[in-house]
Amino acid sequence: MIIAIDGPAASGKSTTARLIANRLDLLYLDTGAMYRAVALYMFERGIDTQDGEALQKNLADIDISFKDSLIFLNNEDVSEKIREPHISKLSSQIAIIKIVRHKMVELQREIAKGRDVILEGRDIGTVVFPDADYKFFLTASLESRAERRYKEMSEKGIELTLEQIQQELQWRDQNDTQRAEAPLRKADDAIEIDTTLLTIEEQVHTILAIVNRTNKG
Ligand code: DC
Repeated sequence: MIIAIDGPAASGKSTTARLIANRLDLLYLDTGAMYRAVALYMFERGIDTQDGEALQKNLADIDISFKDSLIFLNNEDVSEKIREPHISKLSSQIAIIKIVRHKMVELQREIAKGRDVILEGRDIGTVVFPDADYKFFLTASLESRAERRYKEMSEKGIELTLEQIQQELQWRDQNDTQRAEAPLRKADDAIEIDTTLLTIEEQVHTILAIVNRTNKG
């Protein structure tokens, strides 16, 4: 069984997908974390991501794996580092590049092969698994997404104002939806859920109710 969850940054995808994975005993794959890991690799080595040759060469040296809820970049646990604000922006920038997407999509399909998986990202229902059993598209107002992200960041001790976060989300929304390669968009057959006024438990419940009602198991 494949469940695809797409939507803009901070729309509640990760928390919802993680909880559903636990309830239904599915593998959870956070594809955004993979783009973030690539961004971190390029950032730490000072690679000019506009330089196609350098990018290709360095991409070949990248190994990404998951264990429990941690992500490893060439065997280093980078789960915390990839959440830094400058990596959020760079991940959206490198995600427009064809060879980066190609490598990520291949890896996502490989990880999911023969397993029951819930994947969340931007292009899961449109590109990675267009034949997914269930497709959801989560949205929420910019204000509520910024508030959620602000709370998360404050808890981690990252000091950003609500306004800075709102601007960053707006910039990423624009960049992720306007790109030529696999832009963020709702698949025609995806079910849209506006999470603005929903609690996490309500989001999980809404999705589980649909999956249980139309069990394609
Ligand atoms: O989900 P996230 O905010 O952690 O994702 C970080 C960036 O990675 C996002 O701004 C765009 C890119 N991304 C993508 O292009 N395709 C995906 N399937 C997941 C993320």
